[in-house]
Amino acid sequence: MSRITDKLRYVGVNDLDKKVFEGLWPLPYGVTYNSYLVVDEKIALIDAVEHDFADESITLIQEEIGDRPVDFIVVNHMEPDHSSGLVRLREVYPDIRIVCCAKAVPMIRGFYGITDNIMTVKDGDVLSLGDSSLTFYLTPMVHWPETMMTYYLEEKTLFSGDAFGSFGAEDCDVRDSGARLHHSDDCADCGDTADGQTDTLHEFESEIARYYSNVVGKYAAPVQNALKKLAGIEIKRICSTHGPVWENQIDGIIEIYDRLSRYEGRRGVCIAYASMYGNTAAAAKALAEELRLSGVPYAIHDLGAENPSYAYRDAFLYDTLAIGSPTYNGDIIPPVKTFIAGLELRTLKNRRFIAFGSHTWTDMSVKRLNEFAVGRGFELISDGVPFEHAYSPEKVVFPKL
Ligand code: FEO
Repeated sequence: MSRITDKLRYVGVNDLDKKVFEGLWPLPYGVTYNSYLVVDEKIALIDAVEHDFADESITLIQEEIGDRPVDFIVVNHMEPDHSSGLVRLREVYPDIRIVCCAKAVPMIRGFYGITDNIMTVKDGDVLSLGDSSLTFYLTPMVHWPETMMTYYLEEKTLFSGDAFGSFGAEDCDVRDSGARLHHSDDCADCGDTADGQTDTLHEFESEIARYYSNVVGKYAAPVQNALKKLAGIEIKRICSTHGPVWENQIDGIIEIYDRLSRYEGRRGVCIAYASMYGNTAAAAKALAEELRLSGVPYAIHDLGAENPSYAYRDAFLYDTLAIGSPTYNGDIIPPVKTFIAGLELRTLKNRRFIAFGSHTWTDMSVKRLNEFAVGRGFELISDGVPFEHAYSPEKVVFPKL
């Protein structure tokens, strides 16, 4: 659906081609680059799309406004998934003015060589388009230093940049009463509410948490600052740069971002491990089985075999981390070491923690994992469960988690 309201139109795109976002994170359901038009006496485009999709978005723009020019492009965020379409936009609309904050100016020059037709705005500045007005709020580090959000007063609509974003392209309406993840197969997790409407928040929750933890997770304090800054603003609609347009479930999407950026995990265990010869893997699977029998929610990730994207998601979602590594070269095995470095980078807090893993002649991995956990201020559930040589249920006994 392109027409959100009479004056607000969706002109974004689904990217189902890209395999990994930022060159790192898998996209099993694709991703959207959202772009919005505000159509009044003047016309403003809020956020552009990635370069490869610029013509597709421009076609949508022209379907909405015919041969009227776009007067402004508001650059809320300079990361190329939203800004690399600028070059093509300027070819089609040579008089378009770029609206951005001062920190974006050298980035626009550096990425695209653009130095003209740029209008810088400060916190609280207002741009009138006729009966419509856009107010700009600087929200640095959500997710880059130049990030800002744009508020469309008359429609009570917040263009939030990456905040409140999600991985996942949409199969249906982009709005939260209709958006569904783009599936090639039926998904057992997808459910419609009794009234026939898709519960978009449920549908997208996993991809929201994965997007937040993978991409924005390091910037929890700026996200909290932005939430405080926006607290006094009446918001009826959130138009993020990725994922659905939120209208009916605004409290829900804000609550998810608030919870994740406060590092509040829900009851459950994220088991993340790597294994050389299957012994640490056997311990991880035994723990998972214990949790299943106890009815404790859990997720289990073999970091030696899978992208850590999903383990980061579950480390943010659950309140307990169980990390397993064999002793490898007198240390933690590399995939696990990389994973915990990622947790450190994301300043994960407020977790219960237990380490486990096999060793042969020296027990170092559990010691090193505990040092990491103590450094992060985690609560150690026990001194850990190291075990010598092969796994057996008799010698690998986990405390109640
Ligand atoms: Fe979607 Fe930080 O770019």
